[in-house]
Amino acid sequence: MDKFRIRGGKPLHGKVAIGGAKNSALPLMAAALLTPEPITLHNVPTVRDIVTMAKLLAFMSARVSTQDIPSTHYTIEAASLNDAVAPYELVKTMRASILTLGPAVARSGYAHVSLPGGCAIGARPVDLHLAALEKMGAEVTTEHGYLFARVPKGGRLKGANVAFEKITVTGTENILMAASLADGVTVLENCAREPEVTDLIHLLRKMGAQIEGEGTPVLTIRGVSALHGATHSIIPDRIEAGTFLVAGAITNGDLTITNCNPAHLSAVIAQLTRAGVPVEICDATTMRVRGSKNLVGADMTTQEYPGFATDMQAQYMALATQAQGTSVIGETIFENRFLHASEMMRMGANISIDGHRAVVHGPAKLSGTMVQASDLRASAGLVLAGLVAEGETIIDRVYHIDRGYEQIVEKLRAVGANIERIHGVSS
Ligand code: EPU
Repeated sequence: MDKFRIRGGKPLHGKVAIGGAKNSALPLMAAALLTPEPITLHNVPTVRDIVTMAKLLAFMSARVSTQDIPSTHYTIEAASLNDAVAPYELVKTMRASILTLGPAVARSGYAHVSLPGGCAIGARPVDLHLAALEKMGAEVTTEHGYLFARVPKGGRLKGANVAFEKITVTGTENILMAASLADGVTVLENCAREPEVTDLIHLLRKMGAQIEGEGTPVLTIRGVSALHGATHSIIPDRIEAGTFLVAGAITNGDLTITNCNPAHLSAVIAQLTRAGVPVEICDATTMRVRGSKNLVGADMTTQEYPGFATDMQAQYMALATQAQGTSVIGETIFENRFLHASEMMRMGANISIDGHRAVVHGPAKLSGTMVQASDLRASAGLVLAGLVAEGETIIDRVYHIDRGYEQIVEKLRAVGANIERIHGVSS
């Protein structure tokens, strides 16, 4: 397993370009299952989850081609779908594999996918995806860890009114895709409004889908009998951009972040401003962050979009360890997303956990040690802590970070960080 070695204390200076959004690229790749015609995607990030999704689609007999290596352009052509079941070994590494369920059952009236398990951040059930498909006429059963969904008598899914009990990002995306090919009108209430959902709506519309309500909690989808090929460029990754904002701030540096969409980061920018970090929006795709000697503790609670993203919580916690005073951080989306806190405490952070709240007292002098990454965003939080810690931090299990951060070592080194990957050292 690879590790990262970081020698902290260097301010980051320069420019960093943001890649395409992983959490947008994954549903958009799955949407290719809805049509026999090719879907071409640009600005696809070079991260491990994308490779896993490509393998999964190929398993379902889609032809996946890339134009260069490492590639940001993918063409996916699902001329026909087979009923092959992706091995659990493939699916278990990426919960987003559930995104193939809606499109597959809508297109071929049948889908058979591995039930994704829980993960470090919580149980993460998919009951809301399944209940919505059942409302649309699918029969759903689970057996031996696999999900079977079929439309009786080989018919089509039927439009339905679905009110999600809880806001779910991939649930909204799965049912949006299914409803696009269903017979009749589907009205979805209490939908996720994340920019990645809107990006999916934009692709589906290019494919011929009829969807209204983008950016609102109510989506109305008028099902069509067939969708066609399209070309689309994935939106920038707002979590990667937010992570670099914190990197610039925490190291007291000066970073210009390009190829991003500051409009998708309003809550993060507002929170950083409250914590004393100057963020300048230079234009529609560029931001600049400068370090501040006067970081102040500021409370924050994660919320669904447009609130502060749970995927930025670990990174914000790293910043809070360096701020003067107390920051109370509330996590409302996942039940177990504070695993990074105990690793930060081992580095000298003063954090106490009380259920869904973490209380961070700062500033703390962090010192490098051996820490373990538990999930993708926790790893990012630990990298940020390592950048400011005194001495050497070794982060183990960085395969988590490779799932969703493109070239993070190279990008950080290019702006002055002392970070390197140690290859293949078993833990
Ligand atoms: N939930 C249910 N039942 C369901 C679906 C969700 O109870 O059927 C619960 C979940 O357990 C959780 C909450 O609802 O407590 C929200 O989960 P959601 O379904 O919105 O999460 P997700 O779609 O599985 C996506 C991102 C996550 C991100 C969350 C929240 C993708 C591929 N993943 O997950 O990204 O944290 O939304 O914004 O889009 C990451 O990139 O590191 C990551 C974990």
